[in-house]
Order: sequence, then structure tokens, then C-alpha cells
Amino acid sequence: MSDDQYPTDEPLIIGVDLGTSRTAVMSSRGYQGITRSIVGYPKDIIGIKLLGKTQVFGDEALRHRSALTLYHPLEDGVIREGSEKDYTAALELLRHVVNEAKQGAEVPVAGIIGVPSRASIVNKELLLQLARELMTTALIVSEPFMVAYAINKLSDAIIVDIGAGTVDICGVKGSVPGQKDQITTLKAGDYIDERLESAIQQKFYDVQITRNLVRTIKEQYAFVGEPEAPVLVTLRRDGKPAEYDLTREIRAVCESIVPDIVENIVAIMKGYDPESQPEVLRNIYLAGGGSRLKGIAAMVERQLGDFGPVKVSCVDDPDFTGCAGALKLGLDLPPEHWDKIGFSGPEA
Ligand SMILES: Nc1ncnc2c1ncn2[C@@H]1O[C@H](COP(=O)(O)OP(=O)(O)OP(=O)(O)O)[C@@H](O)[C@H]1O
Ligand SMILES: [Mg+2]
Repeated sequence: MSDDQYPTDEPLIIGVDLGTSRTAVMSSRGYQGITRSIVGYPKDIIGIKLLGKTQVFGDEALRHRSALTLYHPLEDGVIREGSEKDYTAALELLRHVVNEAKQGAEVPVAGIIGVPSRASIVNKELLLQLARELMTTALIVSEPFMVAYAINKLSDAIIVDIGAGTVDICGVKGSVPGQKDQITTLKAGDYIDERLESAIQQKFYDVQITRNLVRTIKEQYAFVGEPEAPVLVTLRRDGKPAEYDLTREIRAVCESIVPDIVENIVAIMKGYDPESQPEVLRNIYLAGGGSRLKGIAAMVERQLGDFGPVKVSCVDDPDFTGCAGALKLGLDLPPEHWDKIGFSGPEA
């Protein structure tokens, strides 16, 4: 359907998943997009000349990083609030995403913004302030709840969102989860990258490795449990390529995040009535990019074996499940009711 077939005074409803490593958006008119949560500003006039603009986002910013000062608006699951520039970078990232979703249409925007659990608590006011600058109505909701909404599991389920900055473990109990229903740990994707980089460096001290390269290797080969095949990766030493066996390092580092996940699932599960606990244990869902770690669902399931029958599943599309849930909530609830159901949001 073309834009002129839509009424211009009706708000465009969007669902946003604002994450540490990437931000995804979906709109009520069928747009969907994803960008790395990075904003770059040219360091000097040469950078502006090279890029032809004063700000660059996502992968484009990463590609031109030598000409740019890069900002990652989220860190460890919260929006950075150190300086004016941090605020501007977060605002511009969100503006970029909203503009993409608008696809050139001049319409008011009503947005549901899913953020890591910690940000939904720590940065709520800041997030609302950002949203107010770009939208007529907005709700800030924790991302695991968005995932639960997307997969229609609104009670007796546990969502484990394994992101870049944080792992958020959330028990859904038929209402919007409160602080006591969620546990956040920082042993997530960025933690794996950091540990894997030092493990590789320690074993092969003279290979050249960067954090970005480590992340790429992880995203291709990460696994827990018994390896299907050795992980042989080409790295460079003294500028020359050679093959290195990273099987043990990858396995050990990836497995190092599992104990906290299992322990926190148990803690959240114990918060349910004993009659509900068996059902909860059969409804554990892994989401977020880290749910792509090969073997993780099976390992978590095995380690919960003492608690009776357990089923751990991965969501189908970890990139978009959160924002699909946000959009679904936005479509199910007319924006005029958004401030009447216990969420906070600015006045329309
Ligand atoms: N195949 C894979 N195996 C392991 N990790 C992966 C894989 N693919 C992506 N990841 C990791 O998942 C993380 C990104 O997940 P996601 O996009 O859900 O994070 P985010 O929402 O930006 O972060 P957060 O929720 O912490 O704010 C990154 O650390 C990324 O490297
Ligand atoms: Mg996330």
C-alpha cells in the first residue's frame, strides 16, 4: 500500500527494541529494520568531506570508524548519561530509527520502546524524555516482557534474554513484570567477547586480534557442550595468515555464562507458587542474539534436570521478536489508553 492511501493524522505505531548492540524497529505499515546501536561523528572536516554528512549510524559508522568518533549510547544494559553528547547520541540514534520507520511519511508517531530490564528501571525518565522529543505517545517497557508478549506467553513462563550487555531473566505472571520478577547479569555477549579475546591472546600471544574480529568469530562458531567439529580459524601473525584451533577457548568462555543463567532461572522459578512451578519449568524461552549460541538450550535444560520435567526453547527470530512484541502491544492497545494501564508514558 502506498503512503497516500494512509490517513496522515492517524499515528504510525512503531515497536522499537533499543539494545546495547543493535536496535530493531517494526511499524504498523509493515516496515522493519535493524541497525547497530552506534552513532559516529566525523573527527574533523576531512571526515565530513569523506562521508558527506555530520553523523553516521550503524554498520556505516563501523566501516568508517577511523574517520569518526563513535558513540555507543547503551552500555551494560543502560543508556549512558555521562555527558550532553551521550544524550545527543542516544536521541539521534532513536531519531534515525524513527525516521527510517516513517519512510518519508509526515505522520505523528506512537511508539512502544522495549529496552533492557536495567534501562527500564534506571533510565526510565531519560527514555521518556527522548521519546517525547520524537513521538506523540510512548511507552517504555522491559524487553523480556516484549518477547513474552510476542510469543503469547503472558503467565507461567520465564524469558531469558541473552543480549550483548546483559542477560535479563524475567518471570511473567499475568501482569507487567515488576522489579522483583527480573534478574539482570552482565555476563552476556560483550563479556564473552572480552574473555575470548584475552583467552586467544594468552594462548597465541603474537596473533593480531581485535574485539570486532573476536565477535565475528564468536557469532560464527560459538557453542557450548561437546563440539561437533574442531573450530579452526584463520588469524594473522606478523601480517601472515595461519590456522589456529580455538575449540577449547570458545567452549570454555561460552560455557562460563551458563551457571549464572541456570542459577537465576531457579531463583525466578522459586518466586512462583509451588503449583505453578512445573508449568513454569516447561515454559522457559531463550531470546536475544546470545540464544543463537549452539547447544545452550539443551545445556540449560540438562542443568535444570533436578527440578523435574523441563523444556527450554529458543525463539524463532531473536533479532525481531522483541520489537514484534512491542508492535503487537501497540496495535492491541489503542494509544489513548497507554497511560491508563500501569505503564508510564508521556501525555499524548
Ligand atoms: N551465533 C551467535 N552466537 C553467540 N552469540 C551471538 C550470536 N549471534 C549474535 N550473538 C551475540 O548476541 C549479542 C547481541 O544480541 P542482541 O541483539 O539481542 O543484543 P542487544 O539487544 O543489542 O543487547 P542488550 O539486550 O544487552 O541491550 C551480541 O553480543 C552478539 O555478538
Ligand atoms: Mg536486547
